[in-house]
Amino acid sequence: MIMSKKHFPRTKIQWIWDNIAGLRGVFILAMVGTVVYNFLQLTVPFFSQQIVDRFLTGDDAATHFQANKKEFYILIACMVGITLLRALIVYLDCMAYEHVSQRALYRVRNHLFEKIEHQDMHFYNEYRTGDLMTRLTGDLDAVRHNIAWVVRMIIECFSLFTAASVYFFYMNWKMAICIIALAPVIFLIVFTFRRKVAPMHALLREKHAQMNTAAQENISGNRVVKAFSREDYEIDKFDESNKDYAETNKKTRLVWIKFFPFVETCANLLPVILLWIGGTLLMKDEMTMGEYVAFSGLMWAIANPMRLLGNILNEFQRFSAAADKVMEIYYSEPKIVDAEDAIDHPERFTGKVEFKNVSFQYEDADLPVLTDISFVANPGETVAIMGETGCGKTSLIQLIPRFYEPTHGQVLVDGMDVSKLKLKQLRTSIGMATQDVLLYSDTIDGNIAYGDTNITKENVIKFARYSAADEFISKMPEGYETIVGERGVGLSGGQKQRISLARALAVRPSILILDDTTSAVDMETEKQIQKSLSELDFPCTKIIIAQRISTTKKADRILILQDGKISESGTHDELIKKGGYYAELVKLQTGQTDLTAKEVI
Ligand code: GTP
Ligand code: MG
Repeated sequence: MIMSKKHFPRTKIQWIWDNIAGLRGVFILAMVGTVVYNFLQLTVPFFSQQIVDRFLTGDDAATHFQANKKEFYILIACMVGITLLRALIVYLDCMAYEHVSQRALYRVRNHLFEKIEHQDMHFYNEYRTGDLMTRLTGDLDAVRHNIAWVVRMIIECFSLFTAASVYFFYMNWKMAICIIALAPVIFLIVFTFRRKVAPMHALLREKHAQMNTAAQENISGNRVVKAFSREDYEIDKFDESNKDYAETNKKTRLVWIKFFPFVETCANLLPVILLWIGGTLLMKDEMTMGEYVAFSGLMWAIANPMRLLGNILNEFQRFSAAADKVMEIYYSEPKIVDAEDAIDHPERFTGKVEFKNVSFQYEDADLPVLTDISFVANPGETVAIMGETGCGKTSLIQLIPRFYEPTHGQVLVDGMDVSKLKLKQLRTSIGMATQDVLLYSDTIDGNIAYGDTNITKENVIKFARYSAADEFISKMPEGYETIVGERGVGLSGGQKQRISLARALAVRPSILILDDTTSAVDMETEKQIQKSLSELDFPCTKIIIAQRISTTKKADRILILQDGKISESGTHDELIKKGGYYAELVKLQTGQTDLTAKEVI
């Protein structure tokens, strides 16, 4: 189920905490390191103050210096030592943040991929590839950036600000109050900024995903673009999407640019306050020169957090928008899963398939695709399904491996409702060659062995022979080791279909489902395939969708699907006698008008 962000079981912080399990100690240590590092920064003005007050100013400075030279050099050595220590801490600290964030990124990305892999068809219908890719890349990187940079900066700002404030009060409370008084103004500005920028980041993230989707769909559909010479159109379309993204990006940045002058003014006011108030206090002898130097040297510890806060919030909002998208997938659950009381059936299925009054409607559709479908395919039988395009053939066979669930009725395999079977056991016993052939960028051998990686080379060749593919594969320079391009680029339609058939056969399925698998294959090759299919060396029920009579006429049963209903059912001869849709099809495809003749085709 796809969740809205309100229903996430964990908050964003808890979610990150969950995903740094095993590294929480390192993360906490890194945060402590940040605090220590920033506190140590404050020792520099402390030592400066000591040196200025005791050795560089005052009437007896020169004599004091002569008498306590050793102390002076100890103070200098302390400053150098602490500087080196800070360098070491900051190095280890950055390493720790990087390590934790990279591990979390790796872990979440794997988890997301696993989630996506286990999703059902509803999910794939809902999410577009480009959008999912954005979640796996850009969005996840925003999450990583939050762990590595935003958290560090937040701690840095707060520890610097707090430590500097405490130190300021310790030195001179009047001066400290005057400086800290600016903080509420800054918080007000930044809070208003946050309210304005949050929706901008959500929008920006959407635009980014849209642009990625446009690019991804275009690249994978490049052949269609070329075929219709639509390059210019596509370039313009992408340009629009790119412009949209760039403009939203600019608008988001502008929000901060509008706020920045106010924050900058506040930060720049600090030295003025120091000059004015500090100068007065100095003249009244309520402040020493060393304190003045320390205030001045530490002013950045108040000004920098002020300046950084906006930037941090900006990044945090970017993280927040991205995390919503990532968590949506992270906590999503497929609807089609193993039933709690799923039957364990490790043995081979005999391959009986039965539809009992099955009706089916896609979730987002208004009308049912299939209505009251009932038929049986006994073990070893061949059932052919025919019908006009769009009548529901593919939808029907998708119910057998439980890609979708019927809205009414039952689909049974070996007498057991498929919803009660373990998905893995059910699906591994089905060999399916889908209508839209998809091959992976791998060798032909790897593609055929996809469902059974332990298959021997001999068997790969055997199944390629069954599919009438061995001949053309052997003729290729690299034979079975030929690498096919993405989605099978480099092969003809018929060649792809035959490899896809070999892949379906290679799992030695109990149920073989072929969806228009030989439509692009010539008649002679198809005959060869038909023969092989009838002589398979393992028991197998075949459900074959086809448009050609030559493919279906030897089937034990032919079902004619019209408007989602079975209008005719029987053997080739029975249906010819019936004189309905099938008989018309035979006339059309054979050119014969007298179907009483003995040999029709
Ligand atoms: P051909 O393969 O062209 O011969 O058609 P078919 O008989 O295999 O039809 P299919 O089962 O693919 O589609 C039947 C009907 O369901 C059509 O009207 C489609 O528009 C519709 N349909 C198919 N897939 C989906 C889907 O994922 N969602 C929705 N809402 N409708 C779908
Ligand atoms: Mg179809």
